[in-house]
Amino acid sequence: MKTIIWEDNKLLLLDQRKLPDEVTYFECKNHKDVVYAIKNMVVRGAPAIGVAAAFGVALAQINGEDINKAAKEIKNTRPTAINLFWAVDRVVNSDSPIDEALKIYKEDVETNKKIGKHGSKLIEDGDVILTHCNAGALACVDYGTALGVIRAAKEEGKNIEVICTETRPLGQGARLSTWEMQQEGINVKLIVDSAAGYLMQKKYIDKVIIGADRVAKGGVINKIGSLMIALSANRYNVPFYVAAPTSTFDEESNVNEIEIEERNPKEVLYYGKCRIAPKNVDVINPAFDIVPSDLITKIITEKGLVDPL
Ligand code: MRU
Repeated sequence: MKTIIWEDNKLLLLDQRKLPDEVTYFECKNHKDVVYAIKNMVVRGAPAIGVAAAFGVALAQINGEDINKAAKEIKNTRPTAINLFWAVDRVVNSDSPIDEALKIYKEDVETNKKIGKHGSKLIEDGDVILTHCNAGALACVDYGTALGVIRAAKEEGKNIEVICTETRPLGQGARLSTWEMQQEGINVKLIVDSAAGYLMQKKYIDKVIIGADRVAKGGVINKIGSLMIALSANRYNVPFYVAAPTSTFDEESNVNEIEIEERNPKEVLYYGKCRIAPKNVDVINPAFDIVPSDLITKIITEKGLVDPL
């Protein structure tokens, strides 16, 4: 199953809002379709939105539109994952947006396989690994970052169990990571987000591996809930790894300066189509949180293991 397809000058995105029940593709014929797809989580995950954004600029060029104007609109879709800005700037500053977008697309898979190779050295046979959100093939072009490490360990013949947190409000762990792991034939179990601390206290978890939306000075930004998992891991001496390509690094900024996306209250008020709270109750819905550097054991990149910034 491909997350992103570029075919006949059109971009096809596996519609992640509908997974795991329906496997359908959302067709983008112009950059406005890409803007819609990123804003509405048809495509999500830092590397995947970067690649989709790059093709968005390419579509603007194909359609004879002003690519700088299109780039601005695409950059306004989601504020936190740096891959989006990195990819758009790369394509805008290249000689050929289409060729550059295709290059970023190809590089993503090669990078993830390298992350997998470096990361799998940390995994021992029999490990139980907790992951949060979806940092898998669905968050990238293919293979994944955190789930790429798990894939690589499996390819090396290691027997592992993966614990996926549900990842409220949109359920990327429940809907996407468990689905990916089942398709790989990897032993996977689903927990509610609030069970992570208890499982670490009971020594059920050997390692935590998550992805990242931005690595900056002082910490790592990732899906809301990452901080609570990191604090529990620190308390119970569970190694806490972040798997991320260097395109997710923002060496210039301090992690506290980065805009954390606030999403629609409906995501919290509803569980799927079912309302679970009184009408009009006020909601706070940050999409990401900050894991301070001192809670992170190592960051697994395509260049090897590095310390947080
Ligand atoms: O809101 P999302 O689904 O785009 O958030 C995704 C995450 O937080 C992922 O963990 C992160 O982007 C890393 S993906 C390799």
